Amino acid sequence: EILEQIATLKNEISAATATNKDEIEAFRIKYLGTKGIVKALMGEMKNVPNEQKRAFGQTMNEFKLLVEDKYNSLKESEEDLENAAGDEDLFLPGQQIPVGTRHPISLVRNRIISIFRKLGFAVAEGPEIEDDWHNFTAMNLPEDHPARDMQDTFYIHQNPSWLLRTHTSSTQARTMEKQKPPIRIICPGRVYRNETISARAHCFFHQVEGLYVAENVSFADLKQTLYFFVKEMFGPDVKIRFRPSYFPFTEPSAEMDISCLICGGEGCNVCKHTGWVEILGSGMVHPNVLENFGIDSKKYTGFAFGMGMERICQLKYRVNDLRLYSQNDLRFLKEFSGAL
Ligand code: PHE
Repeated sequence: EILEQIATLKNEISAATATNKDEIEAFRIKYLGTKGIVKALMGEMKNVPNEQKRAFGQTMNEFKLLVEDKYNSLKESEEDLENAAGDEDLFLPGQQIPVGTRHPISLVRNRIISIFRKLGFAVAEGPEIEDDWHNFTAMNLPEDHPARDMQDTFYIHQNPSWLLRTHTSSTQARTMEKQKPPIRIICPGRVYRNETISARAHCFFHQVEGLYVAENVSFADLKQTLYFFVKEMFGPDVKIRFRPSYFPFTEPSAEMDISCLICGGEGCNVCKHTGWVEILGSGMVHPNVLENFGIDSKKYTGFAFGMGMERICQLKYRVNDLRLYSQNDLRFLKEFSGAL
């Protein structure tokens, strides 16, 4: 009879709920109080025949544990409710999480990548600490070549055969080492040159170089590719012009100017009153460079180009001091909030 009673009580307890402290206290008094049900049932022990005392004791212990567990879980959920309530208004709209802004160099980098991707250029990346071969020698700048002085190189003190790459041409080198033509890549990345820091120069900057090697690649392809790029980057009205130049790794070489976007040709201090601004170096890959990587220069030709992202950024966003890019001044960075 008592066992039946316990079974019904068990069901009652599992189903019990409490929404406030008073109800929980009532539960405690009813079951666990000094005049509560648990005590009363325990008192029945003396009426249980000796041979059943052991089993009854066990049942009672389990029953008591069940009651205590239930009591604890009622208390816990009540505390949770109370904490959640606090003095907060649960119907207020959520607080805005402050999000960062994209760095202008990243904006320009992403844009450049997406433009060249339309033409089938893949992105290649390489190390910033380079060896002499990939940065210079393989790119047709042997040891005593005077043009090495054009790029004021940082050498690694402990081991001068290592250096900080002065251009991402080293990534072109690493790609030609691994891959056979056709090769169509752009190499974005940070490069280093030992220059005095000012508004117009810095000891590091960001480049994107491009390389296309295949059969029958001509200067016309180079010109059309770069023309497409600047129109996508700066709009349909921008003009380009090429000036003959010299780079050890290209022959012939040319620098490319675009019509000044700031003054529209009238003349300003960005274009130094010429109406034109230089944005990149380019040319047809020198046969020596191809042969350095075992690429047959009779069968294959290629073009290459290289530009500074800071320069593109300056023209696109009118940034007039190179130092702004690396100072992490929030007033500057926030100017680009929301820009993708
Ligand atoms: N590597 C050159 C530089 O850093 C840029 C360049 C790349 C020029 C490819 C021509 C062809 O100045």
